[in-house]
Amino acid sequence: MVLVTGGAGYIGSHTCVELLNNGYQIAVIDNLSNSHPQAIDRVKEITGRDFPFHEGDVCDEAALDEICKAYPFDCVIHFAGLKAVGESVDLPLAYYKNNIGSTVKLLEAMGKYKINNFIFSSSATVYSGENTMPLTESSVRGCINPYGWTKFMNEQIIRDTATARAGMSAVLLRYFNPIGAHESGQIGENPSGVPNNLMPFISQTVAGKYAELSVYGNDYDTPDGTCIRDYIHVTDLAAGHVAAIRFCQSHKGTRAFNLGTGQGTSVLEMVHTFERVNGVKVPYRIAPRRPGDFPVSYADPSQAEETLHWRAEKTLEQACADTWRWQKKNPNGYS
Ligand code: UD1
Repeated sequence: MVLVTGGAGYIGSHTCVELLNNGYQIAVIDNLSNSHPQAIDRVKEITGRDFPFHEGDVCDEAALDEICKAYPFDCVIHFAGLKAVGESVDLPLAYYKNNIGSTVKLLEAMGKYKINNFIFSSSATVYSGENTMPLTESSVRGCINPYGWTKFMNEQIIRDTATARAGMSAVLLRYFNPIGAHESGQIGENPSGVPNNLMPFISQTVAGKYAELSVYGNDYDTPDGTCIRDYIHVTDLAAGHVAAIRFCQSHKGTRAFNLGTGQGTSVLEMVHTFERVNGVKVPYRIAPRRPGDFPVSYADPSQAEETLHWRAEKTLEQACADTWRWQKKNPNGYS
C-alpha cells in the first residue's frame, strides 16, 4: 500500500489516478493548505475506486503516527510541500521548516513503521544554470532560491538516510515543467491567486481572467529569443511514479532520474501551439526578463527510459488541449 503525501495537489492527484488504475492501494495525507478536497473526490470518480484521505500535516508527528498505524504501507510518495519560488525568497524559514521538516518527520516515521521505499518529488531546479544541455542526472547542481535549496537539501537528507538504513530504496524524481491535465477535464492545476507558471497563466488569460500574458524576455540567445523549457504532460509524469515504485521493489539505495521529454519548447512556441490546438487567441506582450530565469533547460531522459522503462508519451498538443478542457470545465478551479 502506498502513502501519498500531498495527494490532493496537482501532480499528487494525477499520480493517485495512475496508481489506482494500476491496481495499487493508496491512502492520502494532505493539509489542504494549497489544495482542495474536491480533487480527492474527483480522483475517486475518475477511477471508480475509494481510498482513505486524512486531512493532516506531514510535519505533525501525531498525524503521521495515526495514518501509519492504520494502514500497512510499503511505500511513500512525498509530494507535500510549499512550491512558490518568489514566496520562498520572502519567507525562507517557512520553506525550510515545512519542506525539510516534513521530509525528516516522514523518514523517521518510515523507520518506525518499517517502510522501506521512498519516492521523492524533486525538480530540475536542483541543476545549476551553468550546465550545457541536455541536463543529465550528473549535471552540476546548485540553486538560486530557497525553494530550490529545499529540493536540493531534501535529496541529500534522503540519500544519507538510505545509506544508513539497510533495505531502504529511494528514488529522486527530478521533474521538468509539468503541464496539462487529466483527459477527463476533472482534475488539473489549480493555482491560488495569480499563476506564476506559464501554462496556467496562458489558460486563465484566454479564459478572460487576465488581459494579456507577459512574455518574460525575447532577447535570450535562443532561436526566437524566448526561454526554452521541457514541458511534460502531468499524466506522463504521474506514470513515472508507478515506474519508480516498480524499480524500488528490486533495487536498494538511492537513484535520481530526470522526468522530462527531452524536447525544448520556447515560450512563443507554447503560445502558438495553444492557439492552434484550441482555436483561440492568446493575447501577449513582450515584458522584461524575469529575474532567476535560465535561457534554456531540457532533460536528457535516457536514464529513466533505460532503467525505469518509462518515457513521456503525450504531445505538447495533447497537453494544450487537456489544459484548455480543464480550464473550460472548471473556470474557477475546484472552488
Ligand atoms: C518555475 C520555477 C522552478 C519550479 C517550477 C515549478 C522560477 C525561476 N522557476 O520554473 O523553480 O520548479 O516553476 O513548476 O520561478 N513565463 C512567461 N510569462 C509568465 C510565466 C512564465 O514568459 O507569465 C516564461 C518564463 O520566463 C519561463 C517559462 O515561461 O521561461 C516557464 O516558466 P514557469 O512555468 O514559471 O517555469 P520555470 O520558470 O521553468
